[in-house]
Amino acid sequence: MPYFLGIDVGTSALKTLLISDEGKVISSASVDYPLLTPRPNWAEQDPAIWWDAAVRAAKECLGRGKEVVGDSLVVEALGLSGQMHGSVFINGEGGVLRPAILWCDQRTEEQCGEINDKLGFNKLIGITGNRAVAGFTAPKILWLRRNEPEIYRQVEKVLLPKDYIRYKLTGEFATEVSDASGTLLFNVKERKWSEEMLDTLDIPRRWMPDCYESTKISGCLSKKGAIALGLPEGIPVVGGGGDQAAGAVGNGIVVPGAVSCVLGTSGVVFWHSEEPLYDTRGRLHAFCHAVPGKWHLMGVTLSAGGSLKWFKDNLCPEEIEEARRKGVSAYQVIDEKAEAVDPGCEGLLFLPYLAGERTPYADASARGAFVGLSLRHSRAHMARSVMEGVSMSLKDCLELGRECGVEAHRLYLSGGGARSPLWRQIAADIWEKEINVVGANEGPAFGAAILAAVGVGVYQSVEDACNRMVATEFAGNPLPENLDLYRDIYQLFRPMYSSLKDFFMNNRKILEKHY
Ligand code: XUL
Repeated sequence: MPYFLGIDVGTSALKTLLISDEGKVISSASVDYPLLTPRPNWAEQDPAIWWDAAVRAAKECLGRGKEVVGDSLVVEALGLSGQMHGSVFINGEGGVLRPAILWCDQRTEEQCGEINDKLGFNKLIGITGNRAVAGFTAPKILWLRRNEPEIYRQVEKVLLPKDYIRYKLTGEFATEVSDASGTLLFNVKERKWSEEMLDTLDIPRRWMPDCYESTKISGCLSKKGAIALGLPEGIPVVGGGGDQAAGAVGNGIVVPGAVSCVLGTSGVVFWHSEEPLYDTRGRLHAFCHAVPGKWHLMGVTLSAGGSLKWFKDNLCPEEIEEARRKGVSAYQVIDEKAEAVDPGCEGLLFLPYLAGERTPYADASARGAFVGLSLRHSRAHMARSVMEGVSMSLKDCLELGRECGVEAHRLYLSGGGARSPLWRQIAADIWEKEINVVGANEGPAFGAAILAAVGVGVYQSVEDACNRMVATEFAGNPLPENLDLYRDIYQLFRPMYSSLKDFFMNNRKILEKHY
């Protein structure tokens, strides 16, 4: 029986997953690493830690896989996925020139303005389907040119995170359409690099790797790559996908009407589309799907699970200690306490813009806020209001989708937050939608492994593979008694950003002046 290995270069960990040709998860492994924030608004990682984690996690996963299926384990193909938009700058010798600048980095507001000025908003959307937002790749290249000219002069390739791992595995510089879509240098409609964007921004075409459809074989495991992973040389490495597109494949979001909401570090609403749709105001991202010849729309709340993690790490020492004593996860303890709080948290609202925001407000200066705190509020209220605030922000995305003409007929929830029964119920109540979850809640690595199976012809199409490999489950309906309350609170939540917008802008100026 053939097996497939998915490798996902996440933001907080690298995950590997071994699956059978029927989508059964045989083994998995993950290796954590830190996110570096050397300055306010910056977010970086050294690609060397991704490669080190990839080697360790793949070996561990394959070792466990052999315990399950025996030494006869044959890995037929590898698929890659990873955090999108990160810029890995490579010199002529294939060396990394500086730490990668990540998707959640917010340093490039000025360069986004420059791109808008050069092209004009409508032309930019017309070519790329997207507006310039701080985390995308193109503004980072302009930032490098302006701020680190010594390094800029040495650049010979600009890679996305998973494509750096591809380079280490195969020696090839390659990418695929879903991740390339997030660079702002890609013609999303025509599924190819945009000469016009590259020329206008004066970025050399040769810096961009070859770009394939996500199911195409982009290279084979080189001798070096094979030795590192302990696998035979020559195994095909398939294009794969940016983590959102690969995750959507893993959730079966490959047909019209199917929508996924991911409660990961970031929160993402993802709509499949048969056409290259885009939002004329650029509030939703419009990218190529990892399904050949298909597209998707996407709304991103930058700090979703990331908001709850921040809350846990900074405000929950007692819950962390209690979890340690009981041998359970701190999130479980926080959940139990938050569950005792009434829906709506007695007037406490949370704005989740801890790392700025993308959808619906593309504003790198936006920040988080608890609003409505009173003497009655405890940590448990705050925990529940974080879950409610993130869900309201994702409702903003769902509403935008409706405006742009894509409906959510079936909604699938995934990501770390989907493991919380409380958060699932809050989401169902606020979105007023039935919630489904995916059996193998393994995220983008699962989708990457599915793409690998399609790439080597085990399935004729991604749709066929998903029909066979992705199992979904009903996970709950909205509670009628909560609908009216949450509708009222959403009306209060919606204008909160506009009320605070000037504050966010002035706050940023003070930060830049004094810190
Ligand atoms: C998508 C995005 C994030 C990252 C990290 O546009 O920026 O979801 O891919 O997961």
